[in-house]
Amino acid sequence: MSVQLNISFAKSSSVAASLAIQLKLSGDLPASGLSEVDPQGVGARAAGIAKFSAKAMTVLDVIAPHGSDADRLTVIGLGKPDTLTVYDWLRAGGVAAANLKNAKKAVVFLDVPGLDVSAAQAADFALGMLLRSYAFDSYKTAKKDDDKPATVDVKIVMAGHAAAKKAFAATEAIASGVVLARDLVNLPPNVLGPVEFADKAKELKALGVEVEVLTEVEMKKLGMGALLGVAQGSVRPPRLAVMHWNGGKAKDKPVAFVGKGVVFDTGGISIKPGAGMEDMKGDMGGAAAVIGLMHTLAARKAKVNAVGILGLVENMPDGNAQRPGDIVTSMSGQTIEIINTDAEGRLVLADALFYTKERFKPRFMVNLATLTGAIVVALGNVHAGLFSNDETLAGQLTAAGETTSEKLWRMPLAKEYDKIIDSRFADMKNSGGRPAGSITAAQFLKRFVGDTPWAHLDIAATAMNSPQTEINTSWASGYGVRLLDELIRANYEG
Ligand code: BES
Ligand code: MN
Ligand code: ZN
Repeated sequence: MSVQLNISFAKSSSVAASLAIQLKLSGDLPASGLSEVDPQGVGARAAGIAKFSAKAMTVLDVIAPHGSDADRLTVIGLGKPDTLTVYDWLRAGGVAAANLKNAKKAVVFLDVPGLDVSAAQAADFALGMLLRSYAFDSYKTAKKDDDKPATVDVKIVMAGHAAAKKAFAATEAIASGVVLARDLVNLPPNVLGPVEFADKAKELKALGVEVEVLTEVEMKKLGMGALLGVAQGSVRPPRLAVMHWNGGKAKDKPVAFVGKGVVFDTGGISIKPGAGMEDMKGDMGGAAAVIGLMHTLAARKAKVNAVGILGLVENMPDGNAQRPGDIVTSMSGQTIEIINTDAEGRLVLADALFYTKERFKPRFMVNLATLTGAIVVALGNVHAGLFSNDETLAGQLTAAGETTSEKLWRMPLAKEYDKIIDSRFADMKNSGGRPAGSITAAQFLKRFVGDTPWAHLDIAATAMNSPQTEINTSWASGYGVRLLDELIRANYEG
């Protein structure tokens, strides 16, 4: 069962808890012992016997001796102090959350001997705990872990507790944005269609986000023939959700984020093979990241003007579905020959990006999309692909990727690739075949962004089917929310 953590910060605490957690630097044990919680030195003795040396992310779990306040003592190793990164604090929090087991109350002693733990680091530790405690299990009716408590009180004890509590208000907003994105990607496609997704966007109104939802009637008036061509094979109508967070100065142009929201991608008439097709419920991972980011920005009252645009469609084969050979006219006026109906994401984004550029004249646009299988082959699930027409934006994104460990790898754009998508019958075609598949998809998008500073993140391998990490054990990672929050935090606030 999913566990709800109630995290608080305090200066000191008696250890009237089921679990006491301490963090240690490598080499610090057994010499310094576990003084706060373990006057009898059981933990230190156990560390000696187990040859536990507090290497990064290792755990020593000890039953507390008779007469102790806590039932269990858990020691988490941090490794060497000079190499500790933001991501290490997240991971340490994740390891702590994983070791709560059946504890109802836990006390974490975060004043690590030999280390000055900052408020930001404590807040990241707490964020790691929240991210790790996520589980998508609402459809599991026969829950196995009935013995686990539904809520756990976690008290983080440290000298700088007041500042840490303040910093945690922001990282808690990040956690809720990531959880929203993960939930949407994990949800089954029968439950989450374009209309239902747009309704999720409307729920952000409660946080002060302005939300507009365009229906097919309005999109038709705008001339969004590329997006509508994808949608026409589904009985579920498309939506374009537009979210505004106005936390900056009234005169400041917004930053813009555009998400591919294909709620299910069968491939359409160019239908995909059956094996693994169920994964295509996650083909809205870009849109999920954008709504998650907007949630985070609003929840932490970020000092920035931001717009989030979601292109929401379902790609189905049907009597009314578009065909290979069809030519559609995009909102930009450019015509597109459909070669492969499975190259649908770029069609959705073509209109969503052009609309965003024309309407908002943003400082920059970043689109996120589970766009190509080729990026899975090129980069695996370690880096997402980054394509950009702007050196500054690309540099800022890469740096945010390093900080958050939602990593990006820059891929090329070049005129030579552009030729591959020239069409015999229209201005361009939607597929250039296998060679440079991720790059030609990016070249296609580039034709709709004009001079606006723009970046395209191909997150096909990083949004779903995620590896198990200290901070995520779910199929959906929520990739992009932490990355883009960091991009804004580091460069576009205040
Ligand atoms: N949604 C897929 C890309 C994808 C593949 C996402 C694997 C996640 C995991 C996209 O719409 C697609 O089908 N792309 C095609 C493009 C091709 C037809 C030019 C692809 O990558 O094969
Ligand atoms: Mn497709
Ligand atoms: Zn797709």
